[in-house]
Amino acid sequence: MALLPILRFPDPRLKKVASPVTQIDDSTRKLVADMAETMYEAPGIGLAATQVDVHQRIVVIDVSEDKSELQVFINPTLGNCEGSQTGEEGCLSVPGIYDKVERAERVSISYLDLDGKQQVLEAEGLLAVCIQHEIDHLNGTVFVDHLSQLKQLRIKNKLAKQARVTA
Ligand code: NI
Repeated sequence: MALLPILRFPDPRLKKVASPVTQIDDSTRKLVADMAETMYEAPGIGLAATQVDVHQRIVVIDVSEDKSELQVFINPTLGNCEGSQTGEEGCLSVPGIYDKVERAERVSISYLDLDGKQQVLEAEGLLAVCIQHEIDHLNGTVFVDHLSQLKQLRIKNKLAKQARVTA
């Protein structure tokens, strides 16, 4: 396994729309293992392939407290969305920035598992938020894109300053 470099907002590669996975093979399984390792190491609760500059529709998520419940979603699509919830979101591609985003409270999602089997999952609360956040990434959207233009400008300035300090 290997740690993968995570793209930082506003890297234009975060805006690419990912393509569906057409074949689940050893390279898919290796990518998923590397993505999981990268997510746990960061640490984060979700990672989309887009964030490691692989533009395939693959997401890994683990919202469990003890990081023991890895979930892998290949070609995830949102079905029914119900209700709304607003919570603070962060993102491994936008380090140190948190802000409120409105999301559906409950979602249904269909996807392929690592064996290529079609699955359906009903999710709510944090898992539902995480799924919506990660599917956004596959569509080229970062959570800050949901914020006002002014907030986005402030975030870009703050990250540019951070980059200068750590460079
Ligand atoms: Ni993110």
